Amino acid sequence: MKGFKDILPETIEKWHFLEKTAVKIFTHLGYKEIRTPILEKTSVFERGVGDSTDIVEKEMYTFLDKSGESVTLRPEGTAGIARAFIENKLETSVFNKLYYIGPMFRYERPQKGRFRQFHQIGAECFGIKNPAIDAEIIYINTLLFEKLNIKTNLEINNIGCPNCRPQYSKALISYFEHYKESLCIDCQKRLYKNPLRILDCKNEKCKIIARSAPKLKDYVCKDCKEHYTGVVECLKALNIEFIENELLVRGLDYYTSFVFEFVNNNLTLSAGGRYDNLIQDLGGNNICGVGFALGEERIIDILDIKPQNSIDIYIANLGVTLYALNILQKLSDLQFKVYCEYENKSLKSMLKKADRLEAKVCIIIGENELKSSSCIVRDMKNSTQKTIELNQLENTLKGVLYAT
Ligand code: HAM
Repeated sequence: MKGFKDILPETIEKWHFLEKTAVKIFTHLGYKEIRTPILEKTSVFERGVGDSTDIVEKEMYTFLDKSGESVTLRPEGTAGIARAFIENKLETSVFNKLYYIGPMFRYERPQKGRFRQFHQIGAECFGIKNPAIDAEIIYINTLLFEKLNIKTNLEINNIGCPNCRPQYSKALISYFEHYKESLCIDCQKRLYKNPLRILDCKNEKCKIIARSAPKLKDYVCKDCKEHYTGVVECLKALNIEFIENELLVRGLDYYTSFVFEFVNNNLTLSAGGRYDNLIQDLGGNNICGVGFALGEERIIDILDIKPQNSIDIYIANLGVTLYALNILQKLSDLQFKVYCEYENKSLKSMLKKADRLEAKVCIIIGENELKSSSCIVRDMKNSTQKTIELNQLENTLKGVLYAT
């Protein structure tokens, strides 16, 4: 299906590596995992993400369930987690730093790094006003990219809040109105609904017009300014490099003040920011939040790690399945990584398979070995083999495996 991808065994180690590295960082910094449903009531995203955003207007997988209720496959994680935070009264819990991993769905035009089902790793922190928490979120990203050996540029901006943004939107509208005919069709539509989005339109003509548009920094209120300056101070204290990009706006409506993106080769790998009104907009108390999400597919695509061989030992079973099962059990108890063959195959084809699986050792067993409680241990690297008693197996294997 267009935009939906199978994740095959060839790349799965990269996925495991990425997720394990992220989970290690999260758990070391006191973050707890949260798992929310993939399906939510549509209103969670209409109210959370914003009904004038591209995501809600055109990209959601929305349908009526059997009771006639409108439900949506989550296009992102933040709104659902905010809903869970309210419903489960997590403000009374000690765990307010949360992380998540899972699939998201957007009906977008598939292209490089853009799928209809994709996976995000993200984090959300609730109830912390201090700009240091925004910096912690950035720090998590820089740490992760460092461990993954991926170079990124961090771009940041202050996009204001519902107090100061309306004045700015007005200024933008009167500026862009002069160029209305030259804007792309999408931006002409955005002009009165969501003029901020014109600032990050990828159309060349719109880009040139946007360059001279009024700057949000001349309109932001005292609180937004103070918060943003605080984050910048923290980033400097952490020696984290960043670029201030006044044209950086985000495609989701819930952001207030500090927003950011980590970019590699013109592709945004990770993005996020502060959202101080989201919990209230979804019916909760006045609790602020900040978080990020990264696109796993985009990272897997550039992640350069050597795949490790997944097994040490291949059991070539020549018609003695119960004996093979006993050996499998013994080796598994001893913590060896082992693959056992059960289908009737020639020794030649089994050795070929052992080779393709990059097994270091092949244990060959048939009727003779069963009768004498022995097995043939073949060193796959040297193509040498010897018959040994079963009770010598552990030591023999250690000798071969740890010598290579
Ligand atoms: P977002 O910018 O919509 O933000 O998505 C975050 C990241 O997910 C993007 O930078 C990109 O790497 C990846 N991504 C988005 N759409 C696709 C797609 N169609 N195919 C592949 N990857 C994609 C959010 O989702 C916010 N919830 C982030 C956040 C969390 N803000 C605060 N907390």
